[in-house]
Amino acid sequence: MSVLGCGYLGVTHAAGMAELGHQVIGVDVDIAKIAALAGGRSPFFEPGLDELISRNIAAGRLSFTTSYEEAAAADVHFLCVGTPQRDGGAADMSYLDAVVETLAPFLVKECLIVGKSTVPVGTAARITSMLRVLAPAGEAVSVAWNPEFLCEGKAVSDTLHPDRLVLGVPDERAEKVLREVYAPIIDAGVPVVVADLPTAEVIKTAANSFTATKISFINAIAEFCEASGADVTVVSEALGYDARIGRQFLNSGLGFGGGCLPKDIRAFQARAYELGVGQALAFLAEVDAVNLRCRERVVEYLRKQCGGAFTGRRIAVLGAAFKGGTDDIRDSPALHVANIVSAQEGEVAVYDPQAMSNARRAFPHLVYENSVLEAVRGADAVAVLTDWPEFVTLNPYTLGDEARSRNIVDARHALDPTQWLRAGWNYIAPGRPALQASLNEPVDSLV
Ligand code: UGA
Repeated sequence: MSVLGCGYLGVTHAAGMAELGHQVIGVDVDIAKIAALAGGRSPFFEPGLDELISRNIAAGRLSFTTSYEEAAAADVHFLCVGTPQRDGGAADMSYLDAVVETLAPFLVKECLIVGKSTVPVGTAARITSMLRVLAPAGEAVSVAWNPEFLCEGKAVSDTLHPDRLVLGVPDERAEKVLREVYAPIIDAGVPVVVADLPTAEVIKTAANSFTATKISFINAIAEFCEASGADVTVVSEALGYDARIGRQFLNSGLGFGGGCLPKDIRAFQARAYELGVGQALAFLAEVDAVNLRCRERVVEYLRKQCGGAFTGRRIAVLGAAFKGGTDDIRDSPALHVANIVSAQEGEVAVYDPQAMSNARRAFPHLVYENSVLEAVRGADAVAVLTDWPEFVTLNPYTLGDEARSRNIVDARHALDPTQWLRAGWNYIAPGRPALQASLNEPVDSLV
């Protein structure tokens, strides 16, 4: 099989399919990326992925190329290129279309094209029509849609042990091929949902929209908690025990970012408007608005801690990745906050365990430090903006000795407030007003 597009999704999928025992060739137009992969190195940080790539290259099951002609020999082709947001919110299909157009002339025998990218409903049908015209093998080329649900940071295990497989197929022949591809996973008892093409496409955007809605729901409750004196973290805990709700994706704080949820809810709305049912998904605009307000509120807390303005103040930003466990900075809430503070004349010192070089490349005007301590040194306020495990165990006394003022915004609810309050820090966490109110009390009464 071939995997077209070697980003977070494609590389993990290629290595995962090789691990299942298939012969896999990964394709990308980026020569440097292909060279790194051929040398057994992932071009990005993803736990366990380097080992998976090296092991399968060594076993002779995995290779990489920039040649579509070489890839065209495969029986199954997975489309794994990005579908980023374009102006107006709709998905940019140019990368996907370019891959199909480049591959098509080489398709001279029966094969199955399997879309994994997140796409607007109707894309599989459109690609089928394109291939009818462009591929010499004509009707012997089928198109299926098999959405991917992996989360960055645990992509390897999500690929090899998914919650479910969705097989969007035009006919039984395509279903049979996909069942063969995933046989070891299906044999392990993973549920399989067989659907037609539009249904498979909708399942993916519906899943991401639901999780985004769940996060914004709890962040809206956090805003309400702030006005009403309640504690959102306890609300999440209690809601989580309700089997109908579940605890996952109820972590409030800074909201969602990344290369998927934000752009997927916008593309879903754009497609709904095109189909004349914009009203049905209009609530997703509110999901988006609640999410973006989380970032603004964190900036406000920091400004308050800095005495009302950032000019002449140093703010330590702990975390640059859009979440812990990845070096991905696409639509990172942490860097969004950092950039607002910087635009308001604050000196922003960023530290992240993995995402420093990506962040530095994208935002060279920010200051980057090599450790938490260096970032915090001389800071007027510290902001914990990414949920890295390394931040959970930070010592409030050690950091207190480095900071100019003991101000901290725990935007991901990563820290134990009692410890930080005891160490004399002004501690603010979104949706936990009782802790903020206690800032005004003498430190001794807080312990
Ligand atoms: C998301 C989906 O969860 C995957 O199922 C999907 O396959 C993927 O997009 C995709 O479409 O490719 P991912 O972007 O890796 O995965 O990240 P998530 O783990 O979903 O987190 C998204 C954002 O929400 C992060 O910024 C995270 O910090 C935030 N989040 C997550 C919260 O603010 N609270 C939570 O409780 C959970």
